[in-house]
Amino acid sequence: MKTTLNVENMQCAHCVNTINNTLLKINGVYGIEANIAAKQLVMDHTPEVDLNRVNAKLKEMGYPAIDTTDKFEDKASGWDQNARRVAMAESFVRRVMETIPILPETRLMDFGCGTGLVGLQFAPYVKSLVMVDNSPSMLEVLKKKVADLELNSEAIEFVSPGIGDMQTSAVDVIVSSMTFHHIEDTASLLGEMYAKLTTGGYIAIADLVKEDGSFHDEEVPHNGFDEHDLCELLSKTGFQFVLCETFNRIKKETRKGEKEFPQFLIIAKK
Ligand SMILES: C[S@@+](CC[C@H](N)C(=O)[O-])C[C@H]1O[C@@H](n2cnc3c(N)ncnc32)[C@H](O)[C@@H]1O
Repeated sequence: MKTTLNVENMQCAHCVNTINNTLLKINGVYGIEANIAAKQLVMDHTPEVDLNRVNAKLKEMGYPAIDTTDKFEDKASGWDQNARRVAMAESFVRRVMETIPILPETRLMDFGCGTGLVGLQFAPYVKSLVMVDNSPSMLEVLKKKVADLELNSEAIEFVSPGIGDMQTSAVDVIVSSMTFHHIEDTASLLGEMYAKLTTGGYIAIADLVKEDGSFHDEEVPHNGFDEHDLCELLSKTGFQFVLCETFNRIKKETRKGEKEFPQFLIIAKK
């Protein structure tokens, strides 16, 4: 059988050789075809090959597999029907607008924009929006909203899966709500964000304060964050600290009963 794997960092023949030499040693893997431009490997193997082991080997070598499953496929169509989410997005946008300059010439990126609950609220006040998300189904809902609301779609760039795919050269403000806990390598993401932000630009991140894992039914890379650790990471990336506060509390029915989850807002400047 054949399995296609999308991998990061595979840029040259040397990378392909390294990958081939390692993966072909796994019992049951008998062929690898690499496409460097598409960052894709097509692996010929028996059904017994454990794909988790293959992924672990790739990660060990520095070529982590990119997970292309649309994790929000089942949630996208009903996403905006949840009043708690809508209220959370409104509180976040209100605090951002109160704290940092949002001007008619501002180019704003919403990272992990989903259906646009956060980013679209800025549309009347900014020059352009860059809406980044790796879920095709969330972006589909967003695009329909943009059409239904008759927003100027020329001022909106839809980007998927990641910041590396955006055409806009730089942005002045980056906002991101409830997405960082889905990101395995937050240090790399912050590096990419820093590179795309103009000097003097701002980043505003909202997410869950460290929790016991009961917020999600499924596993996610981070069960919330220690805000101080995240601030330290921001400053290591080069950002200057502006603000860190608890801006919202989510009451949610979990498998452990009803629980309250505080959410932090961190704002930093380049
Ligand atoms: C909890 S939702 C939040 C959506 C939106 N910010 C909101 O407040 O309604 C997280 C979003 O992040 C997106 N996401 C997760 N991992 C991502 C990644 N590595 N790159 C881009 N988007 C990602 C998901 O597809 C999803 O739309």
